[in-house]
Amino acid sequence: MNKDPKFIVFEGIDGAGKTTQINLLCKALEKRGFSCFVTAEPTDMPSGKAIRRALAKEVDKTPLEMAEMFARDRELHNTDAKAGIEKMLADGTTVICDRYYYSSLAYQGTVLGYDTVAALNLDNPNIRRPDICIFLDLTPEKSLQRIGGRGEKTEIYENFDYLTRTRKTFFEIFDKLRQRGELISVIDADGDVEEVSTRILAAVADIFK
Ligand code: TYD
Repeated sequence: MNKDPKFIVFEGIDGAGKTTQINLLCKALEKRGFSCFVTAEPTDMPSGKAIRRALAKEVDKTPLEMAEMFARDRELHNTDAKAGIEKMLADGTTVICDRYYYSSLAYQGTVLGYDTVAALNLDNPNIRRPDICIFLDLTPEKSLQRIGGRGEKTEIYENFDYLTRTRKTFFEIFDKLRQRGELISVIDADGDVEEVSTRILAAVADIFK
């Protein structure tokens, strides 16, 4: 395994187990001698907090304004001098990020169209291309079972049709991004935690060769 730092992104529909698997991957990499940093979008920076206020409908934003806010937060996430993605990679640390521009292309893209969101993200030189995107894939049926099992109240958007549409949109954007040379690995997230973790490690091993 080579030890060059990598930029790894996780995406997945609700209930797919992103948080658990991100932490397990980080631990597995650290065991192999890598230094590893876990981060997420929207960020905890003011630009990300403003997004959360808008998501909670505390402030009103148009879909285009939302897409711009996500892209701006992402740019700052890349370039922040203290804990930005670029800085971490330059220090030799592998970065694992929970959600990235795939979410913008899927969620904001559904409303605004792929091209508008792609222009805000893929054409921005300050928004780095990940080395790999791991998509934790779960059927909407399984996803709803898991969300229900957590005992959390199911949010309105976590219904069957919404999950079905979102998953389909992700697959469509993956086709487009693969044509641009991106490495996207769809991992079957239906299985016990160790099983899924092993699948992820096998996919990630490819980028450290
Ligand atoms: P969060 O509470 O982090 O959700 P999750 O645990 O499911 O990741 O909220 C992030 C929400 O923001 C989530 O519903 C997806 C959405 N989102 C976008 O619509 N576009 C984006 O570019 C990103 C990063 C997130």
